[in-house]
Amino acid sequence: MKLDQVSLDQTRELDDVAYKVMAKHVHELTGMDLNQYKANQVKRLLDSVLRRHELDSYGTLIRHLRKDPAMLRDFKGRMSINVSEFFRDPPRFDQLDRDILPAILKGSSKPVIWSAGSSIGCEAYTIAMLLDSHGVLGRSKVIATDIDEEVVRRGRAADYWESELRNVPRDMLESYFDPVSGLPDEAYPLPWRRNPDGTRETLYRLDPRLKRNVTFKIEDLFHSDYRAHFDLIVCRNVTIYFTEEAKRGLYARLCRALKPGGYIFVGGTEIIFNADALGLENAAPFFYRLRSATKEEE
Ligand SMILES: C[S@@+](CC[C@H](N)C(=O)[O-])C[C@H]1O[C@@H](n2cnc3c(N)ncnc32)[C@H](O)[C@@H]1O
Repeated sequence: MKLDQVSLDQTRELDDVAYKVMAKHVHELTGMDLNQYKANQVKRLLDSVLRRHELDSYGTLIRHLRKDPAMLRDFKGRMSINVSEFFRDPPRFDQLDRDILPAILKGSSKPVIWSAGSSIGCEAYTIAMLLDSHGVLGRSKVIATDIDEEVVRRGRAADYWESELRNVPRDMLESYFDPVSGLPDEAYPLPWRRNPDGTRETLYRLDPRLKRNVTFKIEDLFHSDYRAHFDLIVCRNVTIYFTEEAKRGLYARLCRALKPGGYIFVGGTEIIFNADALGLENAAPFFYRLRSATKEEE
């Protein structure tokens, strides 16, 4: 039987065939290629979506997603797990600030940096703040890409909730953020929100000077194709759900996108197992550096 002919109307548990059918629908609806992600993790996410909306089957879920843009937006966010915050894992950003950025700036007068899988932009703007503190923001370029258009929209808007700023050093908070006041707008009916635990948090607006130096793009990492372009690629907390094969392909692509001597910065649970074969050496915990001659893989 062809996948197109398989109905998900009675399906609450995804066996192998039902999973392939679901993956096809998800690809049509969101552009995400679920084959690159670990099936067990994706099944758990899909199951949580079904339970959250109290739907009786995946067939019903697909029909809702086709006709309800707000639900589709929420679905994309859940599938791509887009949690983020400024200075996520502060000691790593200390290391970036203290050791890695000065090394990059020695070799490059106009650094080009990519936040790959940038979510709502906290990571890209954290880097913009560090570049500013080194006095090189104006001659640097920061690109932020993500597959989820809703998070890219938030990155461009650059309004952040207090909880997303909890690691921002006080002097930077004062220099770069203003609490939002004034008339409510369509995106945020109120400049504050109430959390499920009853606490209230304020919305902050980022300094437009930082916004101007970060460019956001909607882009699937599995289709990106940069060549020797970046001094630093920050790809953190993105690959957790990728299959081993997808990770290998991704890191090979990221290496091609690096200038010789450029760095890759990964998340606290991420390791590039075949680093040596890709021409990478360990520069510091969670930082890899591309040696000048690269052996390509893939
Ligand atoms: C957990 S967030 C990490 C955000 C940020 N890097 C950080 O560490 O705070 C993971 C992001 O990766 C994005 N992502 C997942 N698969 C992707 C793909 N194939 N292409 C581009 N972005 C992807 C998700 O949409 C999500 O916004």
